[in-house]
This record gives sequence, structure tokens and C-alpha cells, in this order.
Amino acid sequence: MLQTERLANDPAGLRRAAELLAGGGLVAFPTETVYGLGADARNDRAVARIFEAKGRPRFNPLIVHLPDIETARAYGQFDDHATRLAQAFWPGPLTLVVPLRKGSGLSPLVTAGLDSVALRVPGHPVAQALLTAFGGPLAAPSANPSGRISPTRASHVLDGLSGRIDAVIDGGECEVGLESTILRTADGPPALLRPGGIPAEAIEACLGIPLAPDSTAADECGQPKPDAPGQLASHYAPRAMIRLDAIAAAPGEVWIGFGGQAGGAAFNLSPAGDLVEAAANLFHMLRQADALAGPEGRIAVAPVPDRGLGRAINDRLRRAAAPRD
Ligand code: TXA
Ligand code: MG
Repeated sequence: MLQTERLANDPAGLRRAAELLAGGGLVAFPTETVYGLGADARNDRAVARIFEAKGRPRFNPLIVHLPDIETARAYGQFDDHATRLAQAFWPGPLTLVVPLRKGSGLSPLVTAGLDSVALRVPGHPVAQALLTAFGGPLAAPSANPSGRISPTRASHVLDGLSGRIDAVIDGGECEVGLESTILRTADGPPALLRPGGIPAEAIEACLGIPLAPDSTAADECGQPKPDAPGQLASHYAPRAMIRLDAIAAAPGEVWIGFGGQAGGAAFNLSPAGDLVEAAANLFHMLRQADALAGPEGRIAVAPVPDRGLGRAINDRLRRAAAPRD
């Protein structure tokens, strides 16, 4: 077993992180969405270790993190839509799936052999500092064991991956708390592959056209998107079973409320009914409720409005509540 180093967010910590990455190591780092598990995206062995550490069942494609748009252009081809979106939302919680540039030098494991690549320029200062110190592209999925709740604090990363990765940089709590919005751009209107930290409404307002419905999108587990909610793959799952749209707790349930009508709830995603606050709290409160519920326990979650960031919150909740294998 590895001794996972907990690195401070200071020049010495960043130097150590860059050195570990250059040697093919795995370093978890904060982004504004969730903590990522980073590896050199050009190094096959390092990328393979990501799948091993997460216990991912399949080699599904990973997001490549870069410091700016100019660098991103070396890896993918940007059409007008992609350029406009990158200019509007980068750095930030947006991932663009664009045609892969030939001779990009990326490990084929990063793209799972596809001819497209997922690119993101994170805004978090620690992620930016790490990209600068390392000086190359970082492949980084969320830093959690496959199928479990994504980490929004360094302690969450260690809870799931301690002894399996080389280091984590402690950068405090993630501000957005939900993964990036993923869009595919290539001929025609961009398609939403995953709702996330930037609401679809904001993207449509930027483009001035509606997003395309996408039936071929891969979900979080790399599976084609199922058409019925009952077929959703389990993901972001706590140990406890989850009941959604709960307007009150049943006996024995730990209730996570939302808004002002949640008297008696153990936790409240946002007493004021603010979706930004709720997104930032979601994964941490699921973990806290899971700890309180215990191994055989049950969690109930109040309804969350299905607009703006609420769509991404509900997407994660549906997957957390999906039937498990
Ligand atoms: O906020 C985030 O996006 C975080 C932080 C660390 O940046 N990362 C993250 O990565 O959520 P991950 O691996 O958990 O999710 C990546 C998603 C997967 O659903 C994968 O299938 C999709 O991106 N993806 C990656 N490359 C793709 C491609 N070429 N085509 C379609 N989907 C792709
Ligand atoms: Mg993930």
C-alpha cells in the first residue's frame, strides 16, 4: 500500500505534486467543481493507474485539464460554437467534447480510443497553479472510488483513496460542488452530455440557440444514456438507500431537506432555497447523512426544483438512488 501524502497548498506542496506527476504518480487536487485525481495525460501507465485506483470497471474516457484555451487548441479542434463557449465560460465548470487533434500526444487510454476528447480549463487557483508547475495536460476524473460520492474536500479524497494514490493537495472546500457541465460540439448545435456546474439555460443564452437533445451521450459510467429513469446506472451512491421527493421523513430515515418547509430535517441543502448553495452542499451532506444513517440506514431527500443547477442536482440524486448491482 502507498503512503498517501497530504500536501499543503503552498509552493513546496505544488513542487512536490508536480514532481510526483512527472514521475507517473497520481495526485488529487481541488477544482472549483470537485477534487480531481490527476495523472500525466500523455503517460499510458500513469493513466492506467487512475482506473486501478478508482476501481473503475471500464476504461471510459477522461477529461483533460489545461491552463488556458490556447493550450487546449493543441489537443482538440474548436468550431465556432466551441470557441464561443470556451471564451464565455473558461476558466470554469465547463467541459467541451471536441474532435481530437491528430498527433496530440495524449494516451489513447484518455480518450478510450475515441476520435473525440473532453477538455476543461478549471478556474480554481490551486488547479491553475498545479497545471503551471507541472507544465502538461492532466487527465483527471473525480477523486473517488468508482460509483461513490464525488469529493468536495481533501478529507473526502482520503476517505476513499488513501493508500491508493500518491498525494492529495488540500485546497479546502470546492465552491461549486457539482461536476462540470459536459457539452459535445461538432457540426450543428452543441449537445448536453452531462448537466453540471453551469446551467443549461446559461449556455443556451450564450449561444442564442437551444442545445441539441443527445441520445448517444455517454453517462457518468461511460454507458449510453438510458431513456427511462429506472434504467439509470447507480452512481454517486452512499451506502444507505435513498428515497427521493420526500416531503417528510419516515421512521428510521435521515432526512435531507431543501428550503423553508424542512422542519425536523437532519440537514438542509439550503434553508433559503438557493440552488447554488444546495449544489455546493450536496455531496458533503450525502456523506454526513450516510454516516448518521449507518450501514443499514436510509436517507430521504426533499424535492429540489428542476431548473438551473437544480437539474444537475436532480441528475446526481437520481443516480444516487438508482438500483444497485
Ligand atoms: O468537474 C469535473 O468535470 C470533474 C473535475 C475533476 O474536473 N471531473 C469529472 O470527471 O467529473 P469524470 O471522469 O468523473 O467524468 C468525465 C465524464 C464521463 O462521463 C465520461 O464518459 C465523459 O466525461 N467523457 C470524457 N471524454 C468523453 C468523450 N470523448 N466523449 C463523450 N464523453 C466523454
Ligand atoms: Mg466522477
